[in-house]
Amino acid sequence: MACGVGVCLGCVVKTKNTDEHSRVRNARICTEGPVFAASEVDI
Ligand code: FES
Repeated sequence: MACGVGVCLGCVVKTKNTDEHSRVRNARICTEGPVFAASEVDI
């Protein structure tokens, strides 16, 4: 993990749902995780 505060995007994980604000299918593990339901992420 690089910055740990949600700035660098070095920790993103692919998600199944699209973020309504950014229109991308990523989540930051450092700020939105670190735990995700298996149904939320694209494994
Ligand atoms: S570690 Fe930088 S955005 Fe998560």
